[in-house]
Amino acid sequence: MSEIIGVVGAGTMGNGIAQVAARAGHEVVLRDVKDEFLERGMSAIDRSLQRDVDKERLKEEEKRAVVGRIRTTTELSDLARAAFVIEAITESLEAKREVFRALDEACGPEAILASNTSSISITKLGAATRRPDKVIGMHFMNPVPVMKLVEVIRGIATSDETWARTRELTGRMGKTALECNDSPGFVSNRVLMPMINEAVFALYEGVATRESIDGIMRLGMNHPMGPLTLADFIGLDVCLAILNVLHTELGDPKYRPCPLLKKYVDAGWLGRKSGRGFYEY
Ligand code: CAA
Repeated sequence: MSEIIGVVGAGTMGNGIAQVAARAGHEVVLRDVKDEFLERGMSAIDRSLQRDVDKERLKEEEKRAVVGRIRTTTELSDLARAAFVIEAITESLEAKREVFRALDEACGPEAILASNTSSISITKLGAATRRPDKVIGMHFMNPVPVMKLVEVIRGIATSDETWARTRELTGRMGKTALECNDSPGFVSNRVLMPMINEAVFALYEGVATRESIDGIMRLGMNHPMGPLTLADFIGLDVCLAILNVLHTELGDPKYRPCPLLKKYVDAGWLGRKSGRGFYEY
């Protein structure tokens, strides 16, 4: 069954989600506030699909068909016919609340409104709408086309039917949905961020070099990337923001962000995207 999938936000996560949805055969409406953001998103999709064409895992005409199923728009009202809308804008509660309020107005009554948030409460987003039973978290992992998991978060009012439809859509997108309840950092970041933070503390305290810390976790624990490399990949500002959510919301000092992480963010050393983080790019 192919449905119209709306994606709000054409950044790294949004364009990845649009790509996997279109590749699964869905018509996708990708919305962002500016044409240039949409163009950037579409060229990222093109580059990502081209990798598979180059490896002869996708035919050129299939790639064209996937891209052809994605329509871009700056109008939220173009999402009116979507069965599912997945929001992937910046991690700001206010901005997301605004989008959820507007989506609630624009979309049909049966539409499910999902958020790709990594740390904002799904219950709070549900409360911004008149359909909290149809609001759910779909937390994709970066890079979206590669990572198999979608962490599916149920807000306090999310219905069983919404969870079932979300799990089914996730499966059709070739991913595995694993369920968790709405709680700060959900499961993924509640477990991942303290590990990254501890690696930063180890660096800060001179326990080992960045290469040693990363190498120990890569070779010793079979992690594909060491924690400092992974932090640079995620973005140090994003890591700090998630740690702040864990620290504030759970009130436990064990989540205290390392001062070195704060200092790097203050310096604008945000990881790969800014050209410098724990490593230089
Ligand atoms: N689009 C499409 N395909 C991509 C891709 C992209 N953006 N990036 C990598 N790939 C593909 C490559 O084509 C390659 O495919 P094949 O092996 O099938 O040929 C495969 O992924 C591996 O890529 P590379 O060989 O280039 O590099 P690698 O082996 O170092 O893998 C990686 C790259 C997949 C990113 C790997 O290092 C990895 O899994 N790292 C950990 C990623 C991770 O933990 N992500 C979660 C971050 S947390 C998060 O997202 C949520 C949050 O809330 C913070």
